[in-house]
Amino acid sequence: MLKKLAITAVAALTLSAGGAIAAEGGHIHDVDFSFEGPFGKFDQMQLQRGLQVYTEVCSACHGMKFVPIRTLADEGGPALPEDQVRAYAAQLEIYDPELDDMRPRTPADHFPPHGDPNAPDLSLMAKARAGFHGPYGSGINQFVKGIGGPEYIVSILTGYTGKEKEEAGTTYYENTAFPGGWIAMAPPLSGEDVEFADGHSNELHHEATDVAAFLMWAAEPKMMARQHAGFVAVLFLSILSVLLYLTNKRLWAPVKKKAKEA
Ligand code: HEC
Repeated sequence: MLKKLAITAVAALTLSAGGAIAAEGGHIHDVDFSFEGPFGKFDQMQLQRGLQVYTEVCSACHGMKFVPIRTLADEGGPALPEDQVRAYAAQLEIYDPELDDMRPRTPADHFPPHGDPNAPDLSLMAKARAGFHGPYGSGINQFVKGIGGPEYIVSILTGYTGKEKEEAGTTYYENTAFPGGWIAMAPPLSGEDVEFADGHSNELHHEATDVAAFLMWAAEPKMMARQHAGFVAVLFLSILSVLLYLTNKRLWAPVKKKAKEA
């Protein structure tokens, strides 16, 4: 029984560690992000670069209305200095009903909502499009490779084939990752769209990976704390199981001995 269980577990692990994952409709390729696995961590510089891509490119159409701007200063996140967070907020205006006028945002305000009403809000997109579940939705893939949401975003941003078509006045762009194959978002990135202050490569794949990491953080800023808590819980349960097994054996030992003698 125990042997069988062990074999099943090992098989599930190896199977789930395969290469590309075919989500419904599209091709999603695994990307090794720094925040995956039980000891993963967000890469502070990568989050700052992702914020830059989001701000300079994506925010023209998309919003992130559930994310408070002050979280940009959080440890374990982009960890921007307070004065930079204030300056970032101040360049984004918001309508204040009390003043009946526009005013600069403060860190306590949220990111602005979408600019293009057809562009979905990106606050939770990285979680909404989670795709790596593993056999029978066991979540084993997520333990090893993350949830697949950021991979989906990278695949969308790099999945354009260059073909387009027009239907009922809307232009659609062929995309290998998007379910259905045609998306109404024009390719937002083509590489060298932004100039990174840290001198990091701004090739298409790097820009896409950085903004996807940033959106994962936005959707799940406390992921690291949760992963660590989960790991400690599993460890604790394992030790508890061993202790219970030994206790059980010991408690029943005299009874078993008697049964043998009889
Ligand atoms: C010119 C406007 C525009 C820009 C700029 C833009 N998007 Fe979009 N985006 C859209 C629209 C419109 C849709 C809805 C497309 C659809 O449903 O066919 C969309 C959809 C998406 C989706 C959702 C796909 C899904 O599964 O529903 C993601 C993810 C996304 N955009 C990410 C980004 C990122 C990241 C950037 C910045 C690098 C960006 N977008 C820049 C207009 C834009």
